[in-house]
Amino acid sequence: MRIMILTGAGISAESGLGTFRNSGGMWSSYDLAEVATPQGFATDPDKVHDFYNARRKSVLSAEPNAAHIALARLERMLSGNVTIVTQNIDNLHERAGSRNIIHMHGEIVRALCNICRNRWDAPKTMRPDDACPKCGEAAIRPDVVWFGEIPYHLDHLDELLGTVELFVAIGTSGQVHPAAGFVQMAAASGARTLEINLEPTEITPYFDEVKFGTATSTVPAWVADLVSRL
Ligand code: APR
Repeated sequence: MRIMILTGAGISAESGLGTFRNSGGMWSSYDLAEVATPQGFATDPDKVHDFYNARRKSVLSAEPNAAHIALARLERMLSGNVTIVTQNIDNLHERAGSRNIIHMHGEIVRALCNICRNRWDAPKTMRPDDACPKCGEAAIRPDVVWFGEIPYHLDHLDELLGTVELFVAIGTSGQVHPAAGFVQMAAASGARTLEINLEPTEITPYFDEVKFGTATSTVPAWVADLVSRL
């Protein structure tokens, strides 16, 4: 069975990484136009690097939780048939042992040169005057997708959504496109669809089945049930 698992900030919440849209979430403390758009970066690169340097630090000190670990187990059990598509820029899926991961919004632990498009492992702290190791230009940025930019790997995601048999969304509010539309694309391809979240979201009505609860309790239970039926 080909399974696509879309994850959002909610899966990493219990690892101590904040979500975006709840009260007290990232976008109530920061102006996303200032720190998460190309225009914001052009206006104040120091501020944007400070924001992502702090987030990189939090990610590096966080640990994968039981939900990340359960998804890695599922991938081992169903080798070659599980793809994790994450909107998260953290690396907790990798560190839990998942291998088939698509980072559609990029990765905080990677750096990108705005001039030559070179990518490399980001240092812990990035500064606007750091030079790209390939072309030498001081135009480096975190390798993350900002609002107004096109998410990564969309062609590949389109193909996967055309053949997926089970689509599961975990810990995403379904407010950011294109990921918010994946459930309808998967359903149109004949996939069964399951949402796992703390609470109902704007896209809950599009799913065949919904499980409400924390990711660390709900995801391991769902994986155990699925594996027991293989
Ligand atoms: N277990 C399960 N779900 C949870 C938990 C938890 N412990 N904690 C929070 N949630 C749910 C919330 O109910 C919410 O629906 O996770 C969701 C998080 O939603 P958002 O904060 O909007 O995060 P996300 O959907 O990943 O955002 C998408 O928006 O800001 C951009 O680029 C950023 O990738 C991000 C994108």
